[in-house]
This record gives sequence, C-alpha cells and structure tokens, in this order.
Amino acid sequence: MYSTPYHTTDLSNQKILITGGAGFIGSHLVEYLLKYGAIVRVIDNFITGRRENIDLFKNNPRFEFIEGDICNKADCDRACDGINVLLHQAALGSVPRSIKDPVATNRINVDGFLTIMVAARDAGIQRVVYASSSSVYGDHPGLPKVEDKIGKQLSPYAVSKYTNELYAHVFGLNYGMKIIGLRYFNIFGPRQDPNGQYAAVIPKWIDMLKKNERPIINGDGSNTRDFTFVENAVQANIKAMTTENENAFGQIYNIACGYQFSLMDLFNGLKEILGSSVMPVHGSSREGDIAQSLADINKAKKLLGYDPAFAFKDGLKITVTQY
Ligand SMILES: NC(=O)c1ccc[n+]([C@@H]2O[C@H](COP(=O)([O-])OP(=O)(O)OC[C@H]3O[C@@H](n4cnc5c(N)ncnc54)[C@H](O)[C@@H]3O)[C@@H](O)[C@H]2O)c1
Repeated sequence: MYSTPYHTTDLSNQKILITGGAGFIGSHLVEYLLKYGAIVRVIDNFITGRRENIDLFKNNPRFEFIEGDICNKADCDRACDGINVLLHQAALGSVPRSIKDPVATNRINVDGFLTIMVAARDAGIQRVVYASSSSVYGDHPGLPKVEDKIGKQLSPYAVSKYTNELYAHVFGLNYGMKIIGLRYFNIFGPRQDPNGQYAAVIPKWIDMLKKNERPIINGDGSNTRDFTFVENAVQANIKAMTTENENAFGQIYNIACGYQFSLMDLFNGLKEILGSSVMPVHGSSREGDIAQSLADINKAKKLLGYDPAFAFKDGLKITVTQY
C-alpha cells in the first residue's frame, strides 16, 4: 500500500510469526513484511479479526496461516516452530469490553501472552516485539506521557497490558530474550473494524457519517488523543525487530505522533474530508477513559530511530479514501 521501507537490513532471511495477523494492525504488518521479502506466519482465531484481512495474502508462497488460539500451548508451539522473530499483536482490545468481562480479557491478554511467550522461549526465539497500550498510564496526570511515569491503571484491559510489560521484563532477565514493548496510542487506519459495540471511534464515525447518522461523542468532546496512523505503528515494529542497539532491548516505548487532538477536532476533520453536515450527539463520559492523552516519543526516536512518517490529517484522508 505504501512504499516507505522502514529498514536497512535484508528481511528475506527472516521468518516472522505475527499473532493476531488477521486483525487490524497485524494485517498491516503482514502486508509490509511480505512486500519486503520476509517469510510470514500468522496465528489467529478470528475472535475479532477477519478472514478478508488475510485473504489478501493467501496466494503468496511466503505466507502461512494457522487458525489457532494463543491460549493453547500446542497451537503456540506449532506457530513458533522455526521462527526468528515474534511480533505479538493478538489480544482482546477495548477498555469497555474489559470492564464488562475482565475474565475474558485476562485469559487472552495475560494467559495468552504468557503461553505464546513460553512457546517462543521453548522454540529458541530470541527477538520479540509486543503490543502494549497507552492505557497503562492510567491516572498519572503528567503530560506528555513519559514511559517511566505511570499511574494506577483504570481498567482490566490496562492491567492486562501492564502485566505483559512486567512479564516481558522477567522473560528478558531470566531467558536472555531480546524483548521490546510498544505502547500504542490510538492507532487508526484502513481495515480497522467499524462494527460492533466495541468498535474504535474513527472507523465507527466514518461509517456513521457516510450513512448520514449522528455519532455520539462521549462527554463534551474536549478529551484528547494522540491519534496515530497505522503505518507509523508498522514502522515502530520494523525498527524494533531489526534494531541492533543493545540499549534498546528490554525497554518499552510510546508509539504515537506526539500531538494531541480532541474528539471535536477529529469529528470536524472527518466532516471536512467527507463533506458532511451531520451534527454529533453528546453522551455521558465513559468509565475507564482517560481525559487527555499525549505521548512523548523521544525515547523511541532516540533508541529505535522511530520517526512517524504520517501525520494525523494525512492518515485520516488515507483512511477515509480507502474505507
Ligand atoms: N488499535 C489500537 O488503537 C491499539 C491501541 C493500543 C494497543 N493496541 C493493541 O494492539 C494489538 C492489535 O490491536 P488491533 O487494533 O489490531 O486489534 P484487532 O482486534 O483488530 O486484532 C487483534 C487480533 O488478535 C486476534 N486474537 C485475539 N485473541 C486471540 C487468540 N486467543 N488467539 C489467536 N488470535 C487472537 C483477533 O482475532 C484479531 O485478529 C492488540 O494487542 C491491542 O491490544 C491497539
């Protein structure tokens, strides 16, 4: 889809496992890695991912798909066999879903994380990059968010992602694995699912505006987010899996753009791109939501060479065009 190579090393000798590769971010990783010559295996159970997302790749001889569950050790062992790099994206997303069903979130995001990590260890996989989340910052009031200053988590989802970070640390310590955690900040882009009660705000609003329906804005619309186009998250994963900087391993990084936009900014931006005159409906604030979110991305810039190539507005235009 895009022609920006985010690596200098040859990827053709890399065998990469992407968990959750039928999902939104995972499928963009698959697309990039196949485009630049890697051998890619995906494990996914389609709990939130979609077959269409991997149909795009099924004729590529360097692509392999395993329908399986990261909570099942045998599935994980099969997925990890012969792999050099694990990019772990599979999880049950959504803060509200985790508040409704913390057990399901914990099972996939914590037990599943541990199961795939043990399988990676057993298979001798050295390099692991995993998806954490800005929700880990919880109630810490500091802005912009700096990696080592976190508060108390506000939802089971945030607890699950923080638990991943704690486990990643001890896996690095005890098994010598080179593990990097990426705290994604509101990633958006093509293929993000607009459907269902737990859909992310951007695809949901694009869908509604296109149908002339009125989106609900939780609260007065002044809540901010560091909205980040998916291709920036792809770049971060590629930088993290290819870095040779010893100081970069065992670390966690904010992956964002370093700018905040309010929900009203987002709504007005989408209206402008779509030429819509629909007005929003204001609802009550959501449980577990943080009011302001803005990342300090200097650590990722310095240690990984991350440099987000797509600004918020450009990403929105691409997303709307490809919707
Ligand atoms: N999208 C964001 O803004 C955002 C922000 C912060 C963190 N994250 C994290 O990034 C990762 C990817 O998110 P996404 O937005 O692409 O979500 P997604 O729901 O589109 O993708 C997750 C994928 O994991 C798969 N999956 C879930 N449980 C599984 C299991 N037990 N076994 C096998 N596969 C399973 C799903 O079917 C899906 O394809 C997740 O870890 C998520 O928590 C995303």
